[in-house]
Amino acid sequence: MQVGIDQIGFYTPNKYVDMVDLAHARNQDPNKFLIGIGQSKMSVADQTQDAVSMGINATMRYIDEIDREKVGLLVIGTESGVDQSKSASLFVKSALELAPEVRTFEIKEACFGMSAGIMIARDYVRLHPHHSAIVIGSDIARYGLNTGGEVTQGAGSVSMLIKAEPRILALKNGHSAYSADINDFWRPNDSAVALVNGKYSTEVYLDFFKRTFTNYQAQNDCQTADFAALIYHLPFVKMGFKANQLAIEKQEQETAERLANNFTASAQYSREIGNIYTASLYLSLLSLLENGNLAPEALVGLFSYGSGAMGEFYAGQVMEGYQNALDFDGDQEMIARRQKVSVSEYEQIFTQALELPQDNFELESDEETGYWYFAGTKDHVRQYKQK
Ligand code: HMG
Repeated sequence: MQVGIDQIGFYTPNKYVDMVDLAHARNQDPNKFLIGIGQSKMSVADQTQDAVSMGINATMRYIDEIDREKVGLLVIGTESGVDQSKSASLFVKSALELAPEVRTFEIKEACFGMSAGIMIARDYVRLHPHHSAIVIGSDIARYGLNTGGEVTQGAGSVSMLIKAEPRILALKNGHSAYSADINDFWRPNDSAVALVNGKYSTEVYLDFFKRTFTNYQAQNDCQTADFAALIYHLPFVKMGFKANQLAIEKQEQETAERLANNFTASAQYSREIGNIYTASLYLSLLSLLENGNLAPEALVGLFSYGSGAMGEFYAGQVMEGYQNALDFDGDQEMIARRQKVSVSEYEQIFTQALELPQDNFELESDEETGYWYFAGTKDHVRQYKQK
């Protein structure tokens, strides 16, 4: 029995900042952001979008196409959690009208959270082949205005249905994990923005990639040339580009070109959206599937990295006809519908979103009809509404 990804839903908020505008406002050469970092735009979440509402919106993209009764597990990976105790997934479960029998919880390990959820879901479906699992990654990356990390912010969510005999990607057995207790990026309980040792974080990322990719090949008796594509957690496009350069540096021209071209395809959406932490690797996967060149059974290698730090490499095989299970037009429209905001508007939105509105004040959303949003708190209980 094959187990893997059967549905992918993607959501990003309806506003963005252009990186050329941001570069001018920060007295930087635009090419530093466009080429040096590799980002063109970044999605901006206002006060009405959070990890819960974005996770609901991503899953709404496919929920009516699946059998809700068969969903036995709902996991959300996030580092933008909305409560110190209650799982974000319970709000999501309620909005999606899943059965009360569903097992549901939230996972945290920086950007690794969604990958952890996928591994749990894979094993769950293997034991319960008649059930499926929804795994969501949903995050808003916030470093702060005028910080070195500002250009690597973003917001969005990816949701996936994991089931037996999947239509998109069959997850292979085996993985290679590596962890270390380090401080490259973290967010203390009393801070709405992340703290980061930026240069150090990029060194650890590359080190973990080399270790896990090398170990995976040794443990699974395969080599770089066997992969049709290698995709990465993309905090910014240049980061994955550097990892991919390490992977292809000693390869023959054909392999190097194939992996370079498919890397470019996998980075197309992240370049427009920015870092969405837990869901970033899966936005790379969606971008590869919709913009790359993959034959049936093509082998795709996935590198997941979460600061703190946890790295894991695993692989999947593309299913024949996978294109029919995707919503290419819907994803293009999701990205294109965003309205550009000026840097000063972004600064205002950013600052406002760091604070909760006053209790019992109802927030209005400027999203399109049908999308869910955070409507403020009522007697300190978070309210989610559908527009
Ligand atoms: P910085 O100091 O602003 O940038 O920090 P820089 O001076 O290093 O320049 C960046 C690149 O632009 C360099 O290229 C420059 O040469 C180039 P590189 O040497 O890297 O190839 N450059 C130019 N290129 C063309 N034209 C120009 C020009 N000027 C310069 N005119 C940094 C950059 C990424 C460190 C910062 O933005 C940051 O701290 N970001 C946040 C941390 C981060 O994303 N780390 C990534 C690894 S950790 C991770 O992935 C986990 C994470 O997602 C969190 C989680 O797990 O939860 C972050």
